[in-house]
Amino acid sequence: MKREIVFATNNPHKLQELRQIAGDSWSILSLNDIGCHEDIPETADTLEGNAELKARFVKEKYGYDCFADDTGLMVDALGGAPGVYSARYAGPGHDSLANMALLLENMRGKADRAARFRTVIALIQGDGLHLFEGVVEGEITLEPAGCAGFGYDPVFKPAESTVTFAEMDADAKNAISHRGRATAKLIDYLKNN
Ligand code: IMP
Repeated sequence: MKREIVFATNNPHKLQELRQIAGDSWSILSLNDIGCHEDIPETADTLEGNAELKARFVKEKYGYDCFADDTGLMVDALGGAPGVYSARYAGPGHDSLANMALLLENMRGKADRAARFRTVIALIQGDGLHLFEGVVEGEITLEPAGCAGFGYDPVFKPAESTVTFAEMDADAKNAISHRGRATAKLIDYLKNN
């Protein structure tokens, strides 16, 4: 029989990716699938804290084993910003274009352009909490390039590549991305536990 687990998201891209990698032995349910339509608080000041908050919320309120992810872009020349606040860097109600524009503005004239994406996945299984991390090192480009992907993809060039994430196809990005790496660790764990 398939084992059920909730992925605390309604993002169709993330769900499809996870279902594809997890294979036949797991049934991955979304928040919609379990009737959870609330805004889950993300009030921690670390990626670990936010991922755990989301997974615990589902476990405590709905009883399902659950995993949740949180991602940030850390830029060295900006003291690690936007970091845990990556989604709302340009302020509440602003979109990815505004976030990217502000990032390029704040990076103007900076010689050190080193940055990394970091994803943390928190899994609550029974009483246990397990954390999985994925990191990709790279740099912030001088201007946007490419239109695939989402978020800061057009201005992030991974160290392993000559082009930005937004110039890669999904498979090439997933193979080296922060989320791809964290997800691979989660799936490996689930397959053995
Ligand atoms: P989340 O925790 O996955 O919702 O990610 C938080 C924010 O980080 C998003 O709103 C995006 O701005 C950014 N982000 C996360 N993953 C990526 C990515 O793979 N490429 C570009 N930006 C990302």
